[in-house]
Amino acid sequence: MKNKTRDVSPLSGFYKLSHAARLEKLAGVFELRPECVRLLQGESSLPHRLSDLFVENSLGHFSLPLGLVTNLRMNGEDYAVPFAVEESSVVAAASNAAKWVRSSGGFKAEVLSSMMIGQIQLLDIAPEKMPDISAKLLAAKALLIEKANAVHPRLLLRGGGVRDIEVRIFPEAEIPFLVVHILLDTREAMGANLVNTVCERLAPDVQALSGGRVGLRILSNYADRRLFRASCRLDPNSLALSDGPLRLSGPEVAQRIVEAYVFAKYDPYRAATHNKGIMNGVDPVVIATGNDWRAVEAGVHTYAARSGRYESLSRWSIGSDGMLQGEVTLPLQLGTVGGVTRLHPLAQLSLQILGFPSSDELGMIAASTGLASNLAALRALTTTGIQAGHMKLHAKNLALAAGAVGGEIEVVASEMVKNKLVSASEAERLLAALRSKPLVSEESSAPHLLHK
Ligand code: MEV
Repeated sequence: MKNKTRDVSPLSGFYKLSHAARLEKLAGVFELRPECVRLLQGESSLPHRLSDLFVENSLGHFSLPLGLVTNLRMNGEDYAVPFAVEESSVVAAASNAAKWVRSSGGFKAEVLSSMMIGQIQLLDIAPEKMPDISAKLLAAKALLIEKANAVHPRLLLRGGGVRDIEVRIFPEAEIPFLVVHILLDTREAMGANLVNTVCERLAPDVQALSGGRVGLRILSNYADRRLFRASCRLDPNSLALSDGPLRLSGPEVAQRIVEAYVFAKYDPYRAATHNKGIMNGVDPVVIATGNDWRAVEAGVHTYAARSGRYESLSRWSIGSDGMLQGEVTLPLQLGTVGGVTRLHPLAQLSLQILGFPSSDELGMIAASTGLASNLAALRALTTTGIQAGHMKLHAKNLALAAGAVGGEIEVVASEMVKNKLVSASEAERLLAALRSKPLVSEESSAPHLLHK
């Protein structure tokens, strides 16, 4: 069931609602069954019988908050995107940036290629023979593809299957080796099992043809043939800072964002942080849909270093018409079927909220939220800095950790922010002070009682 044509405008102002009201709204917009809503009300959404199935020596669950990114418009469709993430501000930042981009038409996204790569390593081949062996293997390509495709006949029926075979040689390595790459369209699956099975089944044929000895047989998480691009063009005026001590016009903010991008393009120290900001918008979607975030992280960062230098994954520029233009290209190995994605109740719920997308569509959504997160981070960093917003939420976390409950949380947190002194010990001190003076007079507000 697709929700793409569904009107998600009732979600505006979602953040202002109580948890119960949010769930009610969500259930209405996405036609969630009562048992789905109960999942979100409960303390744990994963039955023990499933954790036992997923991992060995299962003890319990390690939960993450599940938030909802609103305002995303991509390729003319509206989405609400479940984000599983523990970091404060990430959901709000992506929703805000999605709103700025939405006012200029939204994100455009495309699938550049959708193949996984499997690797078979061959050893004990003399370096000088490698070019000939490579040619021999490539001459047998049609036969190898046919054999490989016989491994997963149902994948072929679904329009997937092995598309190509390539050979790479490493004659100069201290132990010379050759690698056969199997390029496989795994359709809706992330594909690790499909690829690994094909590699293992094809290995004896490859070994016989090459006269070498098979080493590893495993997928590559550097999924540079499963690429997604998201882009946006936005009116810089939506980025202007018009209130507060710092006032900047939209074009000034846009120029600063481009300067920040150039920093990340040339300096790997900055690129790592810049790309982490992009992954703030990608990993939460990967996790919410039950996908393998370690695989995605490994692939994305390898892609960022493909030129030989680790660089920014996104690019920002100002067009001749003054519009701010951004784009990101990411290798994303995501599935919408199989494994945890199928079994985890919240992964299924997340997919339902997304309108049960194909894996291609899911990749485009994640690339778009990645670009949104990047935009939000760059706007904050180039203007007010991120600490102001972060500190407000951090202060609440510290107040909570110090034992504050109910209204105490807000009182302790705002006092710390006001005094620009946000720490665990300060939260404890303020809470103790607040509790030792519970009688607050009509005229004096609680924070005043807290002054040292
Ligand atoms: C924090 O989670 C992410 C940022 O550091 C990203 C960036 O620096 O671009 C704000």
